[in-house]
Amino acid sequence: MSHDLFEAARTAMARAYAPYSRFPVGAALRTEDGRIFTGANVEVASYPEGWCAETTALGHYVMAGGGKIVEIAVLAERVAKCSPCGGCRQRLAEFCGPETKLYLCDSTGVTETVTMGDMLPYGFRADILK
Ligand code: THU
Repeated sequence: MSHDLFEAARTAMARAYAPYSRFPVGAALRTEDGRIFTGANVEVASYPEGWCAETTALGHYVMAGGGKIVEIAVLAERVAKCSPCGGCRQRLAEFCGPETKLYLCDSTGVTETVTMGDMLPYGFRADILK
């Protein structure tokens, strides 16, 4: 992973709004044409209404026109590896292939590299709706 994707995720994490969990998370996505979209988690006093860093990043990505996602970096301030939650795996998979790389990071860099296929094997897929 190039350092700019990691830096983008770390910068995003600094913008997290996580006053309830105190668990800031940052995410950055790169499309095949090199664009980077970032997000942080956003919490709400009515707890279930908050959302994840990956979801914020996907919103930015969709509003900028989308494209194929080839790399994703995620980090949380408090842990060495922040693995995307089940809902975010499904949301990310909507715009990724099984080969898309996912970098789990700490505040210094990548701690583990996996693929979306590793993260969501046997997921619900759009082709079933046809
Ligand atoms: N969180 C994320 O932003 N991404 C994940 O994949 C896992 C969890 C956030 C949601 C909540 O604001 C905080 O982490 C604690 O659950």
